[in-house]
Amino acid sequence: PAAGPGGHLAGHIRDVVDHPRPGVTFKDITPLLADPGAFADTVDILSAMCTRLGATRIAGLEARGFLLAAPVALRCGAGCVPVRKAGKLPGETFSRAYELEYGTATLEIQRDAFRPEDRVVVVDDVLATGGTAEAAIELVHSTGARVTGVVVLMELTFLPGRERLERLVKSDCVQAA
Ligand code: PRP
Repeated sequence: PAAGPGGHLAGHIRDVVDHPRPGVTFKDITPLLADPGAFADTVDILSAMCTRLGATRIAGLEARGFLLAAPVALRCGAGCVPVRKAGKLPGETFSRAYELEYGTATLEIQRDAFRPEDRVVVVDDVLATGGTAEAAIELVHSTGARVTGVVVLMELTFLPGRERLERLVKSDCVQAA
């Protein structure tokens, strides 16, 4: 948050220098989650974005994305679908490895998570390099469903995450509070 409708929420996000490793500044959303008013405002703002994007399903990204995706999905009247780190989801899954700002990881989604007509919005706390959101979009596409947008609490605009997603979703469909 800074320039967007959630500019007043920025004060509830704590920068933690050199976490989880030297050179990385971690965006800690725990103060925001602990403040019922700020959390409610966050859910209001993100839900309005998802509704405008026509969401019928919200895909939340493990782990911090889950904390936002669940209340946002309820508010939008959309279903909530977890995109999880490898080995957690039961049944048949699609899986995709990706690189993080700090390290590598694999995300998975259940093959039957969506209906063909679903309009899926990916929800997460932070868009940094875009690697996580890119992997999530590609996983949703693997199931045959369509991604209509990516909604995050905050975007690190000094990193090219938004540009990275442009081949997969329209730029104005990547929205930050
Ligand atoms: C963080 C954050 C985003 C992702 C953004 O998740 O919650 O999901 O990194 O980075 P990117 O745009 O460079 O891919 P992390 O993998 O640390 O997982 P966590 O939510 O489980 O802590």
